[in-house]
Amino acid sequence: MATKVIVNIPGEEAYDVRIAANALEGLGARMRSVETLSQGEGVLIVTDSNVAPLYRDQAKASLAASGFRVRDIVVPAGEEAKSLAVAGELWEAMAQLSLGRDCVVVALGGGVVGDLAGFAASTYLRGVSLVQVPTTLLSMVDSSVGGKTGVNLAAGKNLVGTFKQPSFVCADTTTLATLSEREWVCGCAEIAKSAVIDSDEFFFWLIEAAAALASRDEETVAEAVARSVVFKADVVAQDKTESRGVRECLNYGHTLGHAIEALAGYGMFSHGAAVAEGMRFAARLSAQLTGASADFVAAQDDLLDALGLRSLDWSAAPEDMLAFMKRDKKVRQGKVRFVLPRDVGSWELADVDDAVILEHLEAWQRSKGA
Ligand code: GLY
Repeated sequence: MATKVIVNIPGEEAYDVRIAANALEGLGARMRSVETLSQGEGVLIVTDSNVAPLYRDQAKASLAASGFRVRDIVVPAGEEAKSLAVAGELWEAMAQLSLGRDCVVVALGGGVVGDLAGFAASTYLRGVSLVQVPTTLLSMVDSSVGGKTGVNLAAGKNLVGTFKQPSFVCADTTTLATLSEREWVCGCAEIAKSAVIDSDEFFFWLIEAAAALASRDEETVAEAVARSVVFKADVVAQDKTESRGVRECLNYGHTLGHAIEALAGYGMFSHGAAVAEGMRFAARLSAQLTGASADFVAAQDDLLDALGLRSLDWSAAPEDMLAFMKRDKKVRQGKVRFVLPRDVGSWELADVDDAVILEHLEAWQRSKGA
């Protein structure tokens, strides 16, 4: 069964997110049905060394069958490819292929490929069309929709980037079969985040569906992706450039999560495991600061457990965690900003005093038996 979500952001062309098994087969035909892509000729597929052997030929065949002149470029797998140097290689490749304003960049892969290819598409010739073909659960539910692009600098992640909405998103759920468990739970953490911030309806559906999602039941996966995309599209429609205090809700769990990833050493814990731990922490902080109930905190814990996102058996010195969080670009007037859920479907942004954060980090550290 195929699902279509229409993303309608004020001031942008509306675009479809197609969620279906084997959607890649119809990629070219679907792109031809998008008005802005219907006359295009040249396509550059940007993919990485993990994804290329799995799905590049299928994507190329579908595009060629619809009359596109297809080239591809394979970047190294991993976060290192999100650099200005690799973006420069994409620009050079596009120029050497004489790709003009009517060309289309197709990002085939996970979040790194999507961010990098999106950045190249939004800057080459001051902007050409972009199609996102996410092949991880995380990129299907988060980065392929909403238009953030970017590369990392030595000083930090995503410090250079643009907002560039795609013209079409093709989420082929069959591609998820090759995901490792570690990658899988990364997507589950973002789905859980979306459900907590969104509504009782999504949250209680996810509690019921958690076991089926964890076992990758096809229909459940498609529905979880669709619900997450609908949620994200709605948030982005209200705050396209994260300037109105709405889109920041998507950072729920990420404040502590980013600190855990960095202090444990990148790669030690998956992004999802770190975000889930950040959600547990933020819910407890919220119990003190917004009066979130113990039932809410427990229900979220149970949901994360059911999705395979267990509480981490790791901690670091509270002062080091706080120092890392204060380096984040989201710090306001020296205070760390958290997304705090008052309950399912209700949240606020709070600039929290260091003393309160330290008190909670100490409790968190004690809970780990440190
Ligand atoms: N991943 C967060 C956002 O798109 O705003």
